[in-house]
Amino acid sequence: MTFRIIETKDGSKGLYNIELEEVYHSFLGAQTEAIQKFVNPVKKLDYKPLSILDICYGVGYNTKTALLELKNIESIDCVEIDKKLVEFSFNFEFNDKINKTIEKNYKNPDFITFYIDDIRKVVKKLDKKYDIIFYDGFAPYKDSCLWSEELIFEVSKLLKKQGLITTYNHSKPVLNAFFKAKMNIGKTIYDKKP
Ligand SMILES: C[S@@+](CC[C@H](N)C(=O)[O-])C[C@H]1O[C@@H](n2cnc3c(N)ncnc32)[C@H](O)[C@@H]1O
Repeated sequence: MTFRIIETKDGSKGLYNIELEEVYHSFLGAQTEAIQKFVNPVKKLDYKPLSILDICYGVGYNTKTALLELKNIESIDCVEIDKKLVEFSFNFEFNDKINKTIEKNYKNPDFITFYIDDIRKVVKKLDKKYDIIFYDGFAPYKDSCLWSEELIFEVSKLLKKQGLITTYNHSKPVLNAFFKAKMNIGKTIYDKKP
């Protein structure tokens, strides 16, 4: 897929997918989105070794931010269909140390493992449960297969009992699918009332 780099409002860089005519990251801030929507909500679990599944790694904002912000990461499994994007991520928008850790683990998996494939296939092969799952597909009106009831059910089965799935998508069909998968649903960002 072809993309171009865009500026987002917090000064961090995001990506725009030219074929899909869709952004990979929020215009309000690629970095802010990773912190507020994906990583901050899971900090309450950060007292124990954490296993993380990053669905739709992209250029890795969520994984990189987790590496920066969380203390007790035991393992991260990253799933991304676009190999070129993952390789591009080694030099994209983050501190060198974290980017190098990612690249090293991509070439020789240690505590980070990459699955370069369709999440719908990978989800059936993964045979462990996770404390945290980042769920960051493109918007459903652009890529609805990433938000099907069937996939959400399969993903939910990979979560440990007290685990957390974080996502930006709070549309009714998606909340319904998580509800049907017997997940407890909560809001993690409370917008100020006007
Ligand atoms: C909204 S972007 C994710 C942004 C990413 N979390 C980041 O920090 O850069 C969605 C990502 O899903 C990937 N994707 C699309 N379809 C997929 C599929 N079926 N399986 C796995 N990844 C997929 C795209 O290549 C894209 O990188």
